[in-house]
Amino acid sequence: MDYKRIDFDQELNTGPQTYNETLGKWWQSRSSDSAHTYAYRRIAEHISSFFARPPQRIIDYACGAGHMLTRLCGSFPDSRLAGIDRSSFLLKLAKKRLRQLGKDWPRRVELIETELPDFSLPQGQADLVIFVFPNIVPNPDNDQPYEENGFHHKADAAVAKHLAWAREPDPEEETVEDDSETVYDSMLTDKVISRNLRGLLKKGGICVRAHYANAPRDELSRLVRQRLAFEEGSLDEPVSAHRAERLFAFLGSTYFRSKVTEDVYHQTRDESDKRGGYLLTTLLAV
Ligand SMILES: C[S@@+](CC[C@H](N)C(=O)[O-])C[C@H]1O[C@@H](n2cnc3c(N)ncnc32)[C@H](O)[C@@H]1O
Repeated sequence: MDYKRIDFDQELNTGPQTYNETLGKWWQSRSSDSAHTYAYRRIAEHISSFFARPPQRIIDYACGAGHMLTRLCGSFPDSRLAGIDRSSFLLKLAKKRLRQLGKDWPRRVELIETELPDFSLPQGQADLVIFVFPNIVPNPDNDQPYEENGFHHKADAAVAKHLAWAREPDPEEETVEDDSETVYDSMLTDKVISRNLRGLLKKGGICVRAHYANAPRDELSRLVRQRLAFEEGSLDEPVSAHRAERLFAFLGSTYFRSKVTEDVYHQTRDESDKRGGYLLTTLLAV
């Protein structure tokens, strides 16, 4: 699918259904190129080396076409896995990929078609939740899951307000082009997703996130790091005398240069998004 013919803004505005149609086909071809294949392998290796004892229950949140699920099935042959996604198109591809593991795959892997965030999923059961190359598209006709699950959390809203309206001390270093209201909305929306991720995990469970970035975490400005930590629920310092709800403790983060960043370029057509890669972040559920 030629990305130049896709109007991403228009597609994303239609809601998550686009991953059954145009963006589903786009992601089918993106996720099977060599950059993504290499990234999935690296993420799986990172996860395997992290666990001294295999995690018993693993969830791939927004699992797409099941690339990570199949790899983790290989790394952890005795674990039970679940892949959750809203796209029946991508889940069908995941099923096809999982079949290659042998006919008993359904005993080990469950594929769940649901719109995320979904707070009715079984809580507190997973040892590991992964969230890889996220692009959760909110349903324009249903903001209830956000409204009812912390979008208006008082302390979070106060911290988000401060961080969304703050500016870099040096204007040359400003990386955010969106207006403060949009930044505020997206910070609180992402925090609800993190609350959903946390809810799926046991206390002490691990969340591994792989998301697009253009620098190692410690090279990001303090403001960008604070916003990131807020969104993932690991912010552990007060901001303007308010403490955001803490969901995770930050364990570590590694930056990999990778052409997967072109996923972002396809959407923004901003040349600077052609350079970068992804951050692999490990968090502990508190
Ligand atoms: C960029 S893809 C990443 C897929 C997978 N994690 C990977 O790395 O290959 C984003 C995924 O999020 C899913 N998604 C987007 N919005 C969603 C929503 N509101 N509910 C459930 N799934 C959603 C899409 O269907 C798609 O599979």
